[in-house]
Amino acid sequence: MTVLDRFRLDGRRALVTGASRGIGQAVAVALAQAGARLALSARTAPALKPTADLVGRYGDTPALVPGDLADTAQAVLVDQAADALGGLDIVVHCAGILPLNPDGSALLAPLQQLPQQAWDQVVAVNLNATAAICRHAHAHLARSEAASLVLLSSVAGVVGAPLMEAYAATKAAQVSLARSLAVGWARTGIRVNALCPGWVRTDMTADVQAVPALSDWLLAHVPMGRWADPEEVAAVALFLASPAAAFLTGQAVVLDGGLSVPDGGLAGIPKPPSPLPAP
Ligand SMILES: NC(=O)c1ccc[n+]([C@@H]2O[C@H](COP(=O)([O-])OP(=O)(O)OC[C@H]3O[C@@H](n4cnc5c(N)ncnc54)[C@H](OP(=O)(O)O)[C@@H]3O)[C@@H](O)[C@H]2O)c1
Repeated sequence: MTVLDRFRLDGRRALVTGASRGIGQAVAVALAQAGARLALSARTAPALKPTADLVGRYGDTPALVPGDLADTAQAVLVDQAADALGGLDIVVHCAGILPLNPDGSALLAPLQQLPQQAWDQVVAVNLNATAAICRHAHAHLARSEAASLVLLSSVAGVVGAPLMEAYAATKAAQVSLARSLAVGWARTGIRVNALCPGWVRTDMTADVQAVPALSDWLLAHVPMGRWADPEEVAAVALFLASPAAAFLTGQAVVLDGGLSVPDGGLAGIPKPPSPLPAP
């Protein structure tokens, strides 16, 4: 076996949530390219068709297990995925949301202005559903010879994130959950890690990308000075899911172009004035 063989997932059975677009779609394609057999989830089956078509180029037609994770009862989709694939070795949980305005656009507002309903919505999808997915995944992963659970958290979960407090709190909770489960499940052979990207070019960040003053200001705080592509996140998710990471568990793997490095301003990267309203 060469070191590159350790990145292969031939025959492994993987569930990817949030797989209809963005990071989840790129993760599904990456796992399929590495040889995994897949189950895909998002709120509706039709939304999963483009990803299913992409995945199908590299192997079996994926199973579709839709469910709206605003309702934790829908976490039964994990059991449906295990039924369809004959078990589960890998779960990459990507489904997640920012607080939303009624028109579906991102709601960036300080906590003191965030409606309780928006907080509850984010906690339901990002945190309560994550716990439910993990709970349902346990029995299936415990039967695997090489189990890996990856939670798509965020750098917002490990740094201060004003105007995104609800999102950041749920992402920090995912890091905490990954650490606790990793320790609790280690002797069962289940590895659990949180993957914490910085700013990634997806639908979730489309409203930010569309405002140059905001986008430029945010990138001024990223030492590498650019957005990440979903495929760059997917490559790290593949690593965490694969035997290449066989001794790696309980970690928050930050992938942010240097955003979270505490440079204290010493890097000298010019920072324009904030276009955001004062807190
Ligand atoms: N983009 C970034 O800059 C960034 C940075 C750090 C971390 N992340 C995290 O990475 C993950 C993926 O983000 P993304 O940028 O790829 O987001 P995205 O493009 O907005 O995609 C979100 C995915 O989650 C699914 N989803 C949303 N609400 C759901 C619900 N109630 N039930 C089931 N599925 C639901 C969506 O499916 P449908 O809408 O088709 O149902 C979609 O597949 C999230 O957890 C996010 O917090 C993103």
